[in-house]
Amino acid sequence: MKTNKLIVALDVETAPEALKLVSELRGIAGMFKVGMQLFTSAGPTLVREIISSGERVFLDLKYHDIPNTVALAGVEATRLGVSIFNIHASGGGEMMRRTADAVARCADAEGLARPSIIAVTVLTSANANTLGELGGTSSAKDLVGRLALLAEASGMDGVVASPREVGVVRAAVKKPGFIVVTPGVRPAGAGLDDQKRVATPREATLAGADYVVVGRPILGASNPAQAAQEIIEEMEINSATSAA
Ligand code: C5P
Repeated sequence: MKTNKLIVALDVETAPEALKLVSELRGIAGMFKVGMQLFTSAGPTLVREIISSGERVFLDLKYHDIPNTVALAGVEATRLGVSIFNIHASGGGEMMRRTADAVARCADAEGLARPSIIAVTVLTSANANTLGELGGTSSAKDLVGRLALLAEASGMDGVVASPREVGVVRAAVKKPGFIVVTPGVRPAGAGLDDQKRVATPREATLAGADYVVVGRPILGASNPAQAAQEIIEEMEINSATSAA
């Protein structure tokens, strides 16, 4: 199992707030996620600063554009030194393939580490109504399975999926080492915020998630380090139980 499955979403407004959380959670969080709010506010300078302080970054910008544009954005994410970045599987196979190829070529040519590229299947805030609004007739589960298979066939290293759909991904994709990252994780008793297809950290890892992403339950806690530690402990009990 991975040493630390917890990715903390740095969903804050400014670089100083983000850096304060990084220092409070150093040695507790396995990775820090920089998403569109913080990246729009603080940009690549902050990402470089977090990485040069020795921490790993998941760049969560969910690229979705024409294949050439996404591939070139992926090259810049590689140069930035992030450990993981993501793109929308619904952007299609060509977009994912071209990105995987461009990233591998850039990493080889420039002697850089190749980041893992993961594909967003169906957002954890989406439910049947949301899919219906978009004209979809498939259930979230069917769509997640289909997009996960497409992502695997298109050279992705893994997917982002709701904890409730990890089983669907594992059943569909047999590739060893295929990463499943699950947001929409809520410790028992925590509020849901805008997340709809949620599970506890224990349920997410028992279902086979490699990483869980947690934002508001940690950021909104009076003691973020303690909240993060409790989530890790819950997942460790879980691994010990499943290994037994
Ligand atoms: O605060 P909360 O724990 O809901 O944060 C979840 C984080 O994971 C947010 O930064 C959100 O953008 C991200 N995310 C998500 N669903 C996805 C992909 C990413 O909630 N499918």
